[in-house]
Amino acid sequence: MKITGKQLRQKWLEFYKSKGHTDIGAVSLIGDGSTGVMFNVAGMQPLMPYLLGKPHPAGKRLCNVQGCMRTVDIDSVGDPSHFTFFEMMGNWSLGDYFKKEKTAWTFELLTDVFGLDKNKLCATVFEGNASAPRDSETADLLIGLGIKPEHIFYLPKEDNWWELEGTVGTPCGPDNEWFYPLDPGKEDPVFPDDYVEIGNDVYMQYKKTETGYEPLGRGNVDTGFGFDRMLLFLNGLTDAYKTDLFTGVLQKLEELSGKKYDDGGEDRRAMRIIADHTRTTVMLIGDKVGALPSNVGAGYILRRIMRRAIRYCRQLGVSSSALIEVAKIYIREVYNEAYPLLPEREDYILGEIAKEAERFEATLASGMKEYEKCVQGIARKNEFLSKQNPAYVPETVIGGKAAFRLYDTYGFPLELTEELAAEQGLTVDKEGFEAAFKEHQEKSRALEKGQAKGGLESHSEQAVKYHTATHLLNAALKTVLSPDCNQKGSNITDERMRFDFNFDRPMTPEEVKAVEDLVNEKIREDIPVVYREMSLEEARKEKFVGVFDSKYGDVVKTYSIGEFSKEMCGGPHVEHTGVLGHFKITKEQSSSAGVRRIKAILE
Ligand code: ALA
Repeated sequence: MKITGKQLRQKWLEFYKSKGHTDIGAVSLIGDGSTGVMFNVAGMQPLMPYLLGKPHPAGKRLCNVQGCMRTVDIDSVGDPSHFTFFEMMGNWSLGDYFKKEKTAWTFELLTDVFGLDKNKLCATVFEGNASAPRDSETADLLIGLGIKPEHIFYLPKEDNWWELEGTVGTPCGPDNEWFYPLDPGKEDPVFPDDYVEIGNDVYMQYKKTETGYEPLGRGNVDTGFGFDRMLLFLNGLTDAYKTDLFTGVLQKLEELSGKKYDDGGEDRRAMRIIADHTRTTVMLIGDKVGALPSNVGAGYILRRIMRRAIRYCRQLGVSSSALIEVAKIYIREVYNEAYPLLPEREDYILGEIAKEAERFEATLASGMKEYEKCVQGIARKNEFLSKQNPAYVPETVIGGKAAFRLYDTYGFPLELTEELAAEQGLTVDKEGFEAAFKEHQEKSRALEKGQAKGGLESHSEQAVKYHTATHLLNAALKTVLSPDCNQKGSNITDERMRFDFNFDRPMTPEEVKAVEDLVNEKIREDIPVVYREMSLEEARKEKFVGVFDSKYGDVVKTYSIGEFSKEMCGGPHVEHTGVLGHFKITKEQSSSAGVRRIKAILE
């Protein structure tokens, strides 16, 4: 290895510190909600208010290495160059230095510190349009530094303008991208085919408006160089999983599976997916703000990523405990210094991975059987009909109803069914899935109305609302604290609700807030509350919670609120969560040994 991950991180920060920058460290991977983005997708994201003019406590020259998540390319993970988590090395001028210093420093870093050949460097700059002029200033500075004029290219907005997608009021501007030949030994490399982008300097002088752009009145610099990509490139590699970030992880996967990464094929793809997804899992669970697998928001993305990793464990022929082994390497060896919170929280992170793996293994085992039945059905039909008619075109689509059944009964996300299908050259009828979904909702709603007529008289409207709120609270506690939290009792008046559940310590203020937020999120989503009658057996299989004892008899009444809450219960409930208003926890206290009590109101 010419340069290790730890060295690269240090060199970047040392260089910019020597130019008067303060290392501000990284913020949480999870977006703070201010930009409407769920995850931090760029180093500049948390700095937006400062790029727009607010004074930063650490001054005008900042640098860091920031964790980022981009899930748009999740389907490409498994190839040599895509990740869901990556780090961006950044530095910023908040209305301080501008193009002259920035071009000189990036040039110095690339040539003096990293030893790149200035004769091989290429750069692209903005060609100009109605909103902003052609950036010949940057081009001239680059030529002055020694970059060959024929290595500088003017490109349009699609290539050389940087802004966070879809957000008005954010800083943006033309950028200068830096390129180097992928194979530096190649004679006469041709731009762009033989080149890779190694990073960019954005000159943030504009603010995005509803209709276009307006000058910010000051020049900022926003630099971003991909850490993982740069590491790959400086080591002369073409497979990003060959850097020292992944050496230990791949060795472990080889050892557990008895397969060789370098043999390529599907096993290599599986190893990459497990390596990438487990890293993202560690980073999200061990993050300052933190996420846990759930059915909402960042938690849902995390769950999808974890479950996808577990599926590829099966494919590789290792058990899901491989995730734990891989996670340990990231926590103890790879990211222990840059992310000291990870080793501190190792037990917690590994425990959460184990819990989700257990939950998913159970779902997967029963769902896979059902999925295979469905595929075999298609194969049998194809075989039968092609015997009857040689011109018969074989069926290659999994029906929407079958996909919905997998979703509804076995908890298979549609994406999972689609991925499994793709591996066998099949597709899924998505429209049919949506239609089945809708039909199911309508049926349940009709049923629920029938039920509500019978039971409502004896309950005040407010008590009914509190009753539905207890279901949301129950599910939120399972999501935020532990799936092992169960209702131990409840008491409802028109003014408040009281809810007891097993948990062995007081909740932290953060946990109380997270539970409140989750309940309120579910209220805002205005989810239909769906009533169904089913056999006790079926309720058990569909993982409805409640007391499974004989008093329910053979047929039980169930209420579900999307996939979020599923309880056996006699009702009555509201029709949609949206009518509940705002949920607030007023007290969290001990009720008896191992049992906590929450008092809450709807306002
Ligand atoms: N904000 C720029 C990027 O993300 C530096 O590439």
